[in-house]
Amino acid sequence: MATEKHFKYVVLGGGVSGGYAAREFVKQGVQPGELAIISKEAVAPYERPALSKAYLFPQNPARLPGFHVCVGSGGERLLPEWYSEKGIELILSTEIVKADLATKTLTSAAGATFTYEILVIATGSSVIKLSDFGTPGADSNNILYLREIDDADKLHAAIQAKKGGKAVVVGGGYIGLELSAVLKMNNLDVTMVFPEPWCMPRLFTAKIAAFYESYYTNKGVKIVKGTVAVGFDANANGDVTAVQLNDGSVLEADIVVVGVGGRPLTTLFKGQVAEEKGGIKTDASFETSIPGVYAVGDVATFPMKIYNDVRRVEHVDHSRKSAEQAVKAIKGKEAGEAVPEYEYLPYFYSRSFDLSWQFYGDNVGETVLFGDSDPSSAKPKFGSYWIKDGKVLGVFLEGGSPDENSAIAKVAKAQPAAGSLEELKKEGLQFASRI
Ligand code: FDA
Ligand code: NAD
Repeated sequence: MATEKHFKYVVLGGGVSGGYAAREFVKQGVQPGELAIISKEAVAPYERPALSKAYLFPQNPARLPGFHVCVGSGGERLLPEWYSEKGIELILSTEIVKADLATKTLTSAAGATFTYEILVIATGSSVIKLSDFGTPGADSNNILYLREIDDADKLHAAIQAKKGGKAVVVGGGYIGLELSAVLKMNNLDVTMVFPEPWCMPRLFTAKIAAFYESYYTNKGVKIVKGTVAVGFDANANGDVTAVQLNDGSVLEADIVVVGVGGRPLTTLFKGQVAEEKGGIKTDASFETSIPGVYAVGDVATFPMKIYNDVRRVEHVDHSRKSAEQAVKAIKGKEAGEAVPEYEYLPYFYSRSFDLSWQFYGDNVGETVLFGDSDPSSAKPKFGSYWIKDGKVLGVFLEGGSPDENSAIAKVAKAQPAAGSLEELKKEGLQFASRI
């Protein structure tokens, strides 16, 4: 008979937000037996960013339990035992296929039901697949995506099986850049293909992108811009052999990695909860339009107070902090105490090869590039300011020290007057260190 279980609190999704929500529940005094985390993945919450970086390194790759949450925020690592010690039920390898917010019931693919008093939706994103667009041959073997640990295991196996072979990376965003680097580090012959005139256009300016493109080219990564994959050839075993591009050219491939964006996983709640900008609409405490139902991490569209706007953010810092905020609000409400509103300053980062950048704030307005952006320098260090209405709103820095990264965060938060753009360019990081 299918099981039925009841919990006071259920977190749906055992990713980054799920793990940080559990930690905050414990900090706020959750009692044994009150909290369950339900996850489709077979492992306890972990720091997802590791999957596109150290998990795929050719030497000493990261493996669990090394990167269970809270490695990235410097706290005690939450191993599976931690959950049992705290009386938190980790319900793994369990996909919820139906959510009924009216009766507060979740139903799993195996037919188990879970009822709750308070629900935290932390389902994250799924990858957009080329087969979603009907691209011919897109379901051939060795056309791979990366979101969860199972995907990373498949990628690892493909890298081992195709040693020294040819890899084509489709997409010029986060996955495209991080995976091209790690595939190259694994000695594959890598070609990146993306439709835009430069990589990572949702954040990088043309000048920032020029640095990364040259750096990657110097490392041996080939870059094909302004075109997309329109089809794939496969051999008799169904293994991919080539990528057809819409400019008519063909790239041989033993492995294809696709990173053409994510889609917030909101389908279970369609029609039951208010949505905005593709996500589940929340207030500053991450409570949705349904009282007692919260949404955090990638799926939440929340008030971004600093810009007087509502936004959705697909980055790890927000997934941690939004989870903490929601749990504080849940427990605050029970105690009849008000919780300060979410004051979020956008923060994104990436690492590939020997490079490491951070960005804080908003990438709007005019830009000023500063520093040494010569890709052949021994230690390139450069950045960019974004200036709107005379104020510096966003700052990017490649190669910064911890102090320099703190300084750029301060600038993005304080939004100081920019003065002359020429001066700003000349001053570079000096400007940030004065704030
Ligand atoms: P997350 O995706 O972490 O977790 C969602 C969980 O819910 C998953 O375990 C999923 O299986 C589960 N789930 C979904 N639907 C379910 C259902 N119906 N039933 C049961 N379980 C369900 N950001 C950054 O700032 N810097 C970085 O370097 C990186 N690097 C990076 C690498 C890779 C490979 C990815 C995919 C993403 C990043 N990110 C990142 C983005 C960051 O990891 C992301 O924003 C957070 O993981 C989002 O946290 P969530 O908890 O919202 O979703
Ligand atoms: P993305 O939005 O960063 O990049 C998507 C890229 O896909 C676009 O820049 C474009 O170049 C390309 N593209 C779009 N349609 C295409 C098509 N039809 N054919 C070829 N290329 C096409 O998304 P992503 O890189 O797939 O990342 C997925 C998710 O994972 C995002 O939420 C991202 O924030 C997250 N992520 C973040 C980090 C980080 O913050 N360091 C690292 C990895 C992943």
